Amino acid sequence: MTTIALPDSRTGTPPAISAVGLRKAYGDKVVLNGVDLHIPEGTVFALLGPNGAGKTTTVEILSTLVPADGGQARVAGCDLVREAPGVRDAIGVTGQFAAVDQLLTAEENLLLMADLEHLPRAEGRRRAAALLDRFELTEAARKPVSTFSGGMRRKLDLAMTLVGDPRIIFLDEPTTGLDPRSRRTMWEIIRGLVVEQGVTVFLTTQYLEEADQLADRIAVLDRGRIVAEGTAEELKRLIPGGHIRLTFPDAAQLDTAAQRFAGSVRDDEELSLRIASDGGIATLRAVLDVLDAERLRAESLTQHTPDLDDVFLTLTGRSDSPKDSSR
Ligand SMILES: Nc1ncnc2c1ncn2[C@@H]1O[C@H](COP(=O)(O)OP(=O)(O)OP(=O)(O)O)[C@@H](O)[C@H]1O
Ligand SMILES: [Mg+2]
Repeated sequence: MTTIALPDSRTGTPPAISAVGLRKAYGDKVVLNGVDLHIPEGTVFALLGPNGAGKTTTVEILSTLVPADGGQARVAGCDLVREAPGVRDAIGVTGQFAAVDQLLTAEENLLLMADLEHLPRAEGRRRAAALLDRFELTEAARKPVSTFSGGMRRKLDLAMTLVGDPRIIFLDEPTTGLDPRSRRTMWEIIRGLVVEQGVTVFLTTQYLEEADQLADRIAVLDRGRIVAEGTAEELKRLIPGGHIRLTFPDAAQLDTAAQRFAGSVRDDEELSLRIASDGGIATLRAVLDVLDAERLRAESLTQHTPDLDDVFLTLTGRSDSPKDSSR
């Protein structure tokens, strides 16, 4: 077996997380079918995939909550199986569903975590206060969590993960269900952890935008396999370019337009036409000029720049992109 904790070629330090050939099945259902990972220290890694792709299972295995059926992994320099306590000491896990105690206050939840981490009482109080402040929960600190909004719970959940000062943090869908503003707040907090404290973040998400915003590297997980890995830019390069989409009121106009725009792709049901575009003004103007010259009355025109949704569609050949799938 090859050694899997290869030093990072740039820094010479071992990766925060490395895995080779992780496999897991529940009964007949193969959930992970040979997953390899290499995550350098102090970076953000996003595991992207739709419902049921195996994201939570991967987090559970790497955080020693469930055993893998096959493969090997090292987290924080410790073997997942033989040195599990070392792994647990180094990591923090914020699960997919908030693990906060509803009946306790935010402050009590944090102090409970401090106790579980065996911190001296004064140190526990200091850390709890600092975290409440950082997550803007100080005002609500003495209120029971049952009165918190989803976003506040999510923030408290992450704060609890940070009580033990972990070097590596697993965040399983940290912003699912949050409104756009709370999502941005969470992103800022996560960025801060990496930039200010050099923490390594392993996050899972169904949101391509989230991976694009936060991650140094992104892996796309589909049916138990990583089907692509790279930076957001690298993934975007894999996919076709942008396009302009026109819709027409009737088939005759669609016919004319399809003939005029060489290489365009028509959809007869939707009476729409896709025209390759670099997203530039000149291309847009040329399209409008043709419509005018042919006296075509397009009902709508939309410009589409490639995003990670397109990556998903291209890689998996299915349109059950994270945005579309129901939870
Ligand atoms: N304890 C378990 N027993 C049986 N099957 C399980 C168990 N945990 C997960 N599975 C199955 O493994 C597959 C992957 O589940 P997992 O929770 O890892 O997906 P996910 O990518 O996190 O999905 P989601 O986006 O919905 O959270 C699913 O088909 C699920 O039903
Ligand atoms: Mg999950």
